[in-house]
Amino acid sequence: MIQSEQAPDFRRFAPATQRNREPLFKVLSDLLPARGKVLEIASGTGEHAVWLAQHMPGLTWQTSDPNPDLRQSIASHAAHAKLTLPLPMDIDVTASRWMSPDESPEPVDAVFCANMIHIAPWAATLGLLSGAARHLKPGGKLCLYGPFKRGGAHTAPSNEAFDHSLRSQNSDWGVRELEVVTEEALKHGFQTPEIIEMPSNNLTLVFEYGALVEGS
Ligand SMILES: C[S@@+](CC[C@H](N)C(=O)[O-])C[C@H]1O[C@@H](n2cnc3c(N)ncnc32)[C@H](O)[C@@H]1O
Repeated sequence: MIQSEQAPDFRRFAPATQRNREPLFKVLSDLLPARGKVLEIASGTGEHAVWLAQHMPGLTWQTSDPNPDLRQSIASHAAHAKLTLPLPMDIDVTASRWMSPDESPEPVDAVFCANMIHIAPWAATLGLLSGAARHLKPGGKLCLYGPFKRGGAHTAPSNEAFDHSLRSQNSDWGVRELEVVTEEALKHGFQTPEIIEMPSNNLTLVFEYGALVEGS
């Protein structure tokens, strides 16, 4: 008997993705075009990517993560779900160029990034904004998901505790201020964001790229 070959299972799991993928889908399916390309930054385990790509089949979902073990997990989740996704890219947002010239694709319709900017130094937020501006079409959207401070204050005790725990692991990490991220985004050519409240005191911020057309 010939045994069927099974791909090794490199999947990793982040339980929060099971809880927030449905609310994320609801928000993103309203915002994103039916067809087009999304570049996901910091895809992590790949669970969001696989779920969202399965539920929005008209979109090409390009994943990325600088961690090779996580890129393996992303590919493994896709294989397990029998989903064809482009291979995960090795993107560190702080790099001055995200892709080599031969990989450099057409501008994308959206850049999606969940739960990265507070678990990385501030330079990662700046890198994300400048890279998204380089890769988005005019009118394209940068969608950021995670906890944010508003008006200089935490929006819930649980976010404050999370912020303390992040800062105790790395003093350069921490829950970012919505207004400060917005100020930087404006400098990079984005509009003021649409702010969508999400479960568990998270937000989705949607920054449209490109200048407002006068009179519109
Ligand atoms: C908490 S995980 C979030 C993963 C996934 N987006 C989610 O919501 O489950 C943070 C991710 O940020 C990635 N990351 C950290 N620093 C980064 C950087 N400079 N550029 C790109 N990704 C980074 C990590 O590799 C990790 O996958």
